[in-house]
Amino acid sequence: MIFDKFIGLFSNDMAIDLGTANTLVSIKGKGIIINEPSVVAVQHDRYGRDKILAVGSEAKMMIGKTPVNIQAVRPMKDGVIADFEMTERMIRYFIEKAHNRKSFIRPRIIICIPHGITQVERKAVKESALSAGAREVFLVEEPMAAAIGAGIPVSSPDGYVVVDIGGGTTEIGVTSLGGLVLSKSIKVAGDRFDKSIIDYVRQNFNLYIGERTAENIKLEIGTAIKLPKDIIIKVKGRDSTGLLSTIELSSEGVRNALKEPFKEISLAVRQVLEEMPPDLAGDVVDNGVVLTGGGALIRGLDKYLATDIKLPVRVADEPLLAVAYGTSKVLDEEKLLQVISNE
Ligand SMILES: Nc1ncnc2c1ncn2[C@@H]1O[C@H](COP(=O)(O)OP(=O)(O)OP(=O)(O)O)[C@@H](O)[C@H]1O
Ligand SMILES: [Mg+2]
Repeated sequence: MIFDKFIGLFSNDMAIDLGTANTLVSIKGKGIIINEPSVVAVQHDRYGRDKILAVGSEAKMMIGKTPVNIQAVRPMKDGVIADFEMTERMIRYFIEKAHNRKSFIRPRIIICIPHGITQVERKAVKESALSAGAREVFLVEEPMAAAIGAGIPVSSPDGYVVVDIGGGTTEIGVTSLGGLVLSKSIKVAGDRFDKSIIDYVRQNFNLYIGERTAENIKLEIGTAIKLPKDIIIKVKGRDSTGLLSTIELSSEGVRNALKEPFKEISLAVRQVLEEMPPDLAGDVVDNGVVLTGGGALIRGLDKYLATDIKLPVRVADEPLLAVAYGTSKVLDEEKLLQVISNE
């Protein structure tokens, strides 16, 4: 017991995978302790003040269902911070939750950021964490953390390709000697898949569905390859006259809806491969490509990409956790932080 207390007081260094869809928090020596949607529910009172009602899973349940004075906000959008104040409040909430409030000491924090963000945005993330109570903040780029979490030996001179398909962005990185030799970030990932499904259902069935319904459709029958047997589900929404209506949607229809975003991801990977120095390109032929992020869980996306880029493609174990695993590893091995942190 006494020992537990001791740990609580002194090893409070933590890492945050600040994702567009999900935020994962790890504590040194303890691994991942929080895994919740990046959503904040805010209530506006009549004096114009905002009160946070819920953060994480509880707040996500409120999306699209909230009464007028309550708003469920996703403060991160397209892999960048869309609402600074809410992001800061969310970071603060997670820091306090991770440290159980009682033993709260200003921790050192590693934050994982999308590779594509600007200097101004980097500074904003840092300031958010500092003002949320961090003592020191290190930024690590998401493709690097994803690669480490997927078990890629990033310090080796060999070239490895990782493709992290998250909620807001797909990030493609080539690692070698502890750095990102090449990388590319596009705003085509899980959220865009959902939007394509919304558009498809509206155009083909005249039915309006919300983001959460679209995400559920994707999770249930989303596929990148033709399935041996079509899966059909019932989908409820609102038709053009405003009435509630139910349609039948097939996995083949959803595959058609998702073709375009999948093509864009494949094209981005090809562009990175084309820019690779020849020696590293040789390594990649042997090592193949590793997929991480929630988007990697779409049925057959690995096969689809493998056919398109003509290289072996595999999905990392637990792709949704890969980035957080990576940051946990960095927490536990300070040397690794020195190698990869570019601050
Ligand atoms: N089984 C699944 N099949 C398809 N998509 C899934 C599955 N599980 C989760 N997803 C999708 O993965 C996305 C979230 O992935 P992830 O947590 O890696 O994103 P993130 O890290 O929050 O976002 P980003 O890295 O872009 O900031 C969501 O769009 C979610 O719908
Ligand atoms: Mg992510």
